[in-house]
Amino acid sequence: MPRIGLGIDFGCDSVKIAKVRIKNNRYIVEKFFIVPIPPGVVDNNVIKNTELLLQELMPVIERNGIKGLRCVTSVSIPETLVKLIKLPVLKKRELDEAMKWELEKYLPFSAAQVISDYKIIGRGEENSINFFSILLVGIQKQIIEGHVRVVRQLGLKHTAIDLSAFAYYRSLRQDFTNKNSQLLLDMGAGGTRLFFFYKGLLCFQRWISFGGNLLTRELMNSTRYNWQEAEEAKKKYGIYARDSVSEEKIIDPVFLTSLGSFIQELQRAIDFFNLQYSDQPVQEIIILGGLTGMKGILDLLVKELSLPVSVFQFSEQFEFINGNDNKEWQDKLPLAVGLALRGAKGWN
Ligand SMILES: Nc1ncnc2c1ncn2[C@@H]1O[C@H](COP(=O)(O)OP(=O)(O)OP(=O)(O)O)[C@@H](O)[C@H]1O
Ligand SMILES: [Mg+2]
Repeated sequence: MPRIGLGIDFGCDSVKIAKVRIKNNRYIVEKFFIVPIPPGVVDNNVIKNTELLLQELMPVIERNGIKGLRCVTSVSIPETLVKLIKLPVLKKRELDEAMKWELEKYLPFSAAQVISDYKIIGRGEENSINFFSILLVGIQKQIIEGHVRVVRQLGLKHTAIDLSAFAYYRSLRQDFTNKNSQLLLDMGAGGTRLFFFYKGLLCFQRWISFGGNLLTRELMNSTRYNWQEAEEAKKKYGIYARDSVSEEKIIDPVFLTSLGSFIQELQRAIDFFNLQYSDQPVQEIIILGGLTGMKGILDLLVKELSLPVSVFQFSEQFEFINGNDNKEWQDKLPLAVGLALRGAKGWN
């Protein structure tokens, strides 16, 4: 069993690469790279411009002695279908057939364009009928092919494609089986992904088109800033007004509408989950992704959602070569590290 793994997180603002070694039950993040990429090269983990991406990544891979390693990449919503479904207890062959029908029911494209898999994760009884709880996953073939192409051209071995929700969970390293329901919120550049976990099982996910790029564009549209200046202002002032003279911080009017509908959509998704899983409503929210660092975001979520909100933290099992206190880098790495762990341990 290999004990070293490489994870690549194709984000639309930057690509994150992590090399992890498992040693004496500790996870050592030996190397990591955060490679900024030009806008439009990656979109929601989908590679849109292979040439440009390779130009950015090739020097990093070549200079740092990671060529030839086995690596894992990931896909996420809205480009994947993940459904928790209930079906009567059937034989494997019958289940295989039933899954094709289920896929067609939920997918906006033909099943022939999709690679799918399913896993029985539980069994129960309802109205005297025995049923399986099944996690069904479908991903468009061309997305996977895009990842495999880039990884091979970088001189690496593509061993698996994972769902980002699972990789995040691996990085958290908690025992979730008896945990209350949790919401993991990845606020990136291209959008926000919501992953709802019920007793440690991913059972519902949603994508919201609110992300760092949207806020940057909003600033550009209401000022004379170019992209770079708008990015800088966003990082300096956060969600707060740039010309505020009073001590009391007020939200920048430029962001009011988008922040308002973001909170509304979040609340709607939480309400939906709570209705479906009324015995275990969401008890806590864990946030990650670049917008976690935006001034005012955490306070806003706490105030508006009336739930405990905490920022993602690696467990004590992890060790970073540049020190565990370097939060600025660590905040960006849970996905790449979770993917590397799968490679290193052969995790499912
Ligand atoms: N301190 C900060 N204040 C405000 N915005 C920030 C801050 N730090 C990072 N960001 C923003 O976070 C975004 C990058 O986040 P992240 O690295 O999670 O995105 P990504 O993973 O590349 O994108 P995606 O996951 O959506 O494909 C950018 O829009 C960046 O401007
Ligand atoms: Mg991301």
